[in-house]
Amino acid sequence: MDNEYLLNKKLGILGGGQLGKMLCLEAARLDLDLSILDKDASFPAAKLCKRFVEGDFKNYEDVMAFGRTVDILTIEIESVNIQALKDLKAEGKIIHPDPYKLEIIKDKKLQKEFYVKNQFPTSVFKAYKDASDVKEAYTAGAIKLPFVQKARKDGYDGRGVQVVNKEADLALLLDVPCIVEPKVDIAKEIAVIVARNDKDDVKTFPAVEMEFNPHANLVEYLHCPSYLDDIQEAVAQKLARDIIRSFDICGLLAVEMFLTNAGNILINEVAPRPHNSGHHTIDSSATSQFEQHLRAIYNMPLGSTKTLSPAVMVNLLGEDKEQGPVKYCNIDQVMELPGVHLMLYGKTETRPFRKMGHATVVASNLNTARSRAEQVKRILKIKSF
Ligand SMILES: Nc1ncnc2c1ncn2[C@@H]1O[C@H](COP(=O)(O)OP(=O)(O)OP(=O)(O)O)[C@@H](O)[C@H]1O
Ligand SMILES: [Mg+2]
Repeated sequence: MDNEYLLNKKLGILGGGQLGKMLCLEAARLDLDLSILDKDASFPAAKLCKRFVEGDFKNYEDVMAFGRTVDILTIEIESVNIQALKDLKAEGKIIHPDPYKLEIIKDKKLQKEFYVKNQFPTSVFKAYKDASDVKEAYTAGAIKLPFVQKARKDGYDGRGVQVVNKEADLALLLDVPCIVEPKVDIAKEIAVIVARNDKDDVKTFPAVEMEFNPHANLVEYLHCPSYLDDIQEAVAQKLARDIIRSFDICGLLAVEMFLTNAGNILINEVAPRPHNSGHHTIDSSATSQFEQHLRAIYNMPLGSTKTLSPAVMVNLLGEDKEQGPVKYCNIDQVMELPGVHLMLYGKTETRPFRKMGHATVVASNLNTARSRAEQVKRILKIKSF
């Protein structure tokens, strides 16, 4: 009765990129009435949703007008207009994640303060006004090398992050309000995606281990299951469950963590939406992260997060120095490889290191999956015409 009623509710998503597109694919299976707000009808999700509204999710009026046409609103990106979401909430719309919590999460300073206040392990940090403020603190001896500077807002795919290893790197500092933290001695980068519905049911996906592209500072390979031992896995899972309850949000929360060489697990950051660290779940898990997000925000029972097969996901990035209308080279050879599931996002233009798609490789063991994922990376080249 409840669900019948809920499924009739119209869903709106702010953002029409690849995450929106993959949400659309799952929403179609549940026959949800889905609309998307973003700037351009050529964006990945536009082709798949029932209604695409051209507008700016950062703009108050655009979000208000769009929000009033739906019952439930969610996001695929954090940099949306928060005031509009607060006002829509006051008008009775169901908004997941909650705008007041999203406001904390989208500002790295507020997010880190939340961890400190709630006693979650995270590296120490301090906030600064801009690049010269950071330099002054460095000169005064308040900051030691090596350190990491992060823009407080709007960073994504490593773009708001500057690692400062040596004094010469100070010239690279981002001139924006930021936080600074010591460079962590990272053994592994891991993530746990956790989901929660309004009945306070909480379910985690198994931890994944991520490997970063050294040039672009973004995820290149992801392994699931991870190589964590049972205790580390249990600690990571518990942290994810505790954090989503502590934030009191519904939907997905991707919790990025560092396992340090000293064996500690630190929270790096969270994202209250589907996330790159869960793309493999489409092809290797009983429930995908996208289905789980929809189940959670519609307050339905959460799906099983059982892993059906070991998987390695590889992000398909635009080749360096290639910019313009996209072409995918050698795709036939990739399609011949067993266990390879391609997801092309449908972005019309490629750029160096732009995320253009991903492939999830399933195999009976991680080693086989990894070497096939490396083959995919070697063979498939994303270039411009
Ligand atoms: N304190 C740190 N010490 C060492 N490396 C770090 C630190 N903070 C961040 N990094 C590196 O930079 C990457 C990006 O940082 P972070 O996740 O905070 O930024 P982001 O731009 O929001 O990322 P994304 O959108 O890719 O998740 C991390 O995954 C990690 O590889
Ligand atoms: Mg990150």
